[in-house]
Amino acid sequence: MDKFVVIGGVPLRGEVETSGAKNSALPVLAATLLTDQPVTLDRIPRVRDVRTMQRLLVDIGAKVDVQGERVRVQVGEIRSPEAPYELVKTMRASSLVLGPLVARAGRARVSLPGGCAIGARPINLHLTGLEQLGAQIRQAHGYIEAEAPQGLRGATIRLERITVTGTEDLIMAGVLARGETVIVNAAREPEVSDLATLLVKMGAKIEGAGTSTIRIQGVERLNGADHTIIADRIEAGTFLAAGAITGGDLTITRCAPEHNAALIAKLQATGAEVTQPEPNTVRVRVDGPLRSVDVSTQEYPGFATDLQAQYLALMTQAEGISIITETIFENRFMHAQELARMGASIRLEGNQAIVAGKKELTGAGVIASDLRASASLVLAALVARGETVIDRVYHIDRGYEKIEAKLAGVGAQIRRME
Ligand code: EPZ
Repeated sequence: MDKFVVIGGVPLRGEVETSGAKNSALPVLAATLLTDQPVTLDRIPRVRDVRTMQRLLVDIGAKVDVQGERVRVQVGEIRSPEAPYELVKTMRASSLVLGPLVARAGRARVSLPGGCAIGARPINLHLTGLEQLGAQIRQAHGYIEAEAPQGLRGATIRLERITVTGTEDLIMAGVLARGETVIVNAAREPEVSDLATLLVKMGAKIEGAGTSTIRIQGVERLNGADHTIIADRIEAGTFLAAGAITGGDLTITRCAPEHNAALIAKLQATGAEVTQPEPNTVRVRVDGPLRSVDVSTQEYPGFATDLQAQYLALMTQAEGISIITETIFENRFMHAQELARMGASIRLEGNQAIVAGKKELTGAGVIASDLRASASLVLAALVARGETVIDRVYHIDRGYEKIEAKLAGVGAQIRRME
């Protein structure tokens, strides 16, 4: 298993470019199942989860050509509408093929994802929504079997809780359903809007993506399309936190600052200087002490849960007490114990982490537990005195493209050890 070796203490300076959004790439790749025409996608990040999704599409029957960031997919026919356990257990977002498979092929057999480090993460809302669209759902041997032999018919679906991939799954089911589908209490994440943009290019009729109510008029079939996905706001946010925690001066390019408004407001409140020198660019500068500022994760446009671990690492370097509340997932403080081993002072109480700063961190051997927790360990290592060895970096490789090369490019002393 690969490890990262980091020597801390270097302020990051310079420019780093954002890749395409992993959490946009996954649903748009699943959307290619909805047509027998070719779909060309650009700015697809070369990360493990995307490779897993591409492999899943091939198993289902797709022809997938990858040239760097450009991926061309054509699903001439669905050979096997299945997402097997051995793939789903490595990437729960495989449930994103449920909606498209039922819509296109009238049936799907998808392994239940099972829990993961950050929580139980059920997909009950995906399934209830599909039932409301007319699918019959059965569960057996750890698999979901969904069938709609007469096709799906539109319905009004009120999501009892905001779910990002649940919203995406149901949009992809609704675009080929007969009649109108309305999704109420829909997720408003930019990745949902990006998926809708692609689907409309393919001929779907969708209004309200990005708002809490999405209205879809079903169509007979969809065509191919070309689409470049949006920048990865979580990667950009991670780099903003890296520039801040190291007391550097870092410019992030090819990003969408408006997608990080909640984080930017928090960073400014801590005393970091965050500016937008030109379009699709954001710059963070810190040359003095940081103030501790509380945060509570919320669905978009609130503070992203995927940036909570990175922000918590930053708060170990801020003066005073900060309270970090995680409202989306039930177990998303796995990074706290590892940060404590580096010298951080963090007390966990239910869904809150109380962080006392500023505490000097010292390098240590630590273990990554999940994708974003791993990112917070890298941030801590960048500011810790001495050497940190981070084990199980395959967690990081799931969602960050060449993170060690990007960080080294702006001065970090970080290398990958096979
Ligand atoms: C998406 O996961 C992201 N993944 C996650 O990013 C992100 O943390 C999450 O949204 C929240 O923003 C992708 O987009 C591929 P949810 P998703 O359904 O869709 C509960 C990363 O680091 N829920 O919005 O699985 C669920 O348990 C990953 O890139 C149900 O109860 O998250 C959670 O508590 C991690 N029933 C809450 O809703 C359901 O049917 C939000 O989950 C679905 C969800």
